[in-house]
Order: sequence, then C-alpha cells, then structure tokens
Amino acid sequence: MAVRIGNIDLGEFPLLLAPMEDVSDPPFRFVCKQSGADLMYTEFISSEGLIRDAAKSRQKLDIFEYERPIGIQIFGSDIDTMREATEIASQVGPDLIDINYGCPVKNVACRGAGASLLQDIDKMTAMTKAVVEATHLPVTVKTRLGWDDNTKNIYEVAERLQDVGIQALSIHGRTRSQMYKGRADWQLIREVKRNPRVRIPIFGNGDVDSVEKAAAWRMEYEVDGIMIGRASIGYPWIFREIKHFYQTGEYLPAPTIAERVAVCRTHFEKSIQWKGEKTGIFEMRRHYANYFKGIPHFKEYRTKLVSLTSVADIHAVLDEIGEQFVMEEVA
Ligand SMILES: Cc1cc2nc3c(=O)[nH]c(=O)nc-3n(C[C@H](O)[C@H](O)[C@H](O)COP(=O)(O)O)c2cc1C
Repeated sequence: MAVRIGNIDLGEFPLLLAPMEDVSDPPFRFVCKQSGADLMYTEFISSEGLIRDAAKSRQKLDIFEYERPIGIQIFGSDIDTMREATEIASQVGPDLIDINYGCPVKNVACRGAGASLLQDIDKMTAMTKAVVEATHLPVTVKTRLGWDDNTKNIYEVAERLQDVGIQALSIHGRTRSQMYKGRADWQLIREVKRNPRVRIPIFGNGDVDSVEKAAAWRMEYEVDGIMIGRASIGYPWIFREIKHFYQTGEYLPAPTIAERVAVCRTHFEKSIQWKGEKTGIFEMRRHYANYFKGIPHFKEYRTKLVSLTSVADIHAVLDEIGEQFVMEEVA
C-alpha cells in the first residue's frame, strides 16, 4: 500500500534522503533524486536565521521543481520564531515542513533547539502545534529515541506530536547523548510503529548502509520507509540498489568507475551552477574521496582534485580517472 503524507503519494515503502547539514544541498539532492530517492529534505535551517533574513539560511530555502516531493527542515528554541519561520518557509512552496528535534550538536542542542526539546515534551508539543497551525502544508518531525538512556521517551513523543497534527515521524535510533556512537537501536522504533494509537507513517533511520540491511530491517522493524544519510554520501546509488532489490530480489552490480565519474561530474557541475565557481569548487572537495572509495591509485588524483582551482582542470582530472579505468580494464 502506498505511503501518504497529506496529499503526497510516496509509493510503497519509500526511501528518504536524510537532511544533512553541508551535504544535502541542491547539487547533492540532484544526484540522489536521479538515483531514486522518494522524499528529500533540505539541510536544517535556523528559524532565527530565517526571520533575521540571514543569507545563509535564505540560501538553504532554494528548492527546484524536479526535487519534489521535498521538505524544508527548520529548527529553533523559541515558539514564536518557529511560527514565523514556518510562514517564511511555506511561502517558498515546498511539499512539507519538517521540524528537527534530533540535532545533538552543542551549539544547537545546548541552546534549547534540536534534540534538547526531547527534555521538555510539553514545549516540544506546543512548538509543533504552533508550526502545524502556521502552515497549510503537512508537517513532519525528525527526532531521536530520547535525550539519554534513562529518558527514551519516543513512544510518548510520537503520540503527543501526532495528536497536535504531524503527518509523519522519522526516528533516528539513537539518543542525544549517543551522538553518532554505538549502534542505532531500531527496536524502540518498532514499538512506536506497533502502537495501535499511532496512525502516521513511521520512518526508521540510523546505520542503513547496505541493501542487505535495508531488506532485513524493513521486515524486522515493520517501519513504513527508511531514511538514509551517511551511506548516500558519495554513493547515491544506494537508493537505486535498494529499490531494485525490493522490486526484483536481485542485486544490481556496483557502479562502474565510468558511472562514478559521470555522477561525480554532475554533482560538480550542479555545485558550480548553484554556488558559483569559487564556493562550488571548494565545497565539492569534501565529496571526491567518497565517490571513488576503494579505487586503486586514487590518492594522487584526490590530491589534485582538492587543490585545483579551475573548473577545466578539475574536469580534466575526472577525464583522467575515467581513462585510467578504461586502460586498466583493457590491460
Ligand atoms: C554531516 C551530517 C549532517 C547532518 N545534518 C542534519 C540536519 O541538518 N538535520 C537532521 O535532522 N539531521 C542531520 N543529521 C543526521 C542525519 O539526518 C541522520 O539522522 C543520521 O546521520 C543517522 O542516519 P545514517 O546512519 O543513515 O547516517 C546529519 C548527519 C550528518 C552525518
């Protein structure tokens, strides 16, 4: 049965691209969409930044038609600011608004935003209600199991947020104090899903990095869809590989180096288009090693890719990587 958020039809068992600061920007989203991501989110956007009209926050509002369905994710600690930010974000015309109650990093969580709201469910509920009332769009939430081992309150959180009108919930199977350590625990996610009072889609998140896991955890944890973050960085093919397996029970071959070059090049070109040459070149540097993980002799190419400052030179190195591969294949 198709999963729906409001009027958005996500198909059966959707795969979501996780919101990731400094990663899930429009160029990265382009290659993930090409590879089959069913629902994507912007990087998180500060509600304070939005209402102050800060350039960095505004730029993150850029969304494109081909990205739909797309959610804009916001975070903040003040309810009125969140309400106002919701109105601003809604005017841009996304398909939904997502609230971040999961961010563990100090300068977010210690300022009363992100995962910190897991310590104050009354405030979290009031904030969510304010956001739901401030927009005509569906509102979703992304959060964690709880603040720490002693306060895993996601079961209650899910009920209370559903009661004030959220239309889907993505749960990262860690607590705030775990940050990114240890293994994600999906058992509590399953408990939330099994709660007969919970009717909204529940998406599982955390540590899905292979077709095998995506297949096994779909069955084991009974979620409505899976959200993938880190495993997609430099490997957007993960969406298409998992989908193919779900549809056919067969594994797709890993992308060839020619495909890696082509997708990395698209990502690079989109970065230049959207960010301009200087920032596009600079910010693309963090991605190369991920695109070419495991290929022999990549180090020398990487050194070039992260130091060159001209678009043409970078294209030439990408050409070289492709040619080197063809030579090795023939040899
Ligand atoms: C670099 C990075 C940036 C992230 N930024 C955000 C963010 O902006 N909003 C958010 O809700 N989660 C953010 N996260 C958390 C991810 O969305 C996701 O919950 C987490 O990485 C676990 O999923 P994974 O194991 O599939 O990566 C970020 C994670 C990483 C690694």
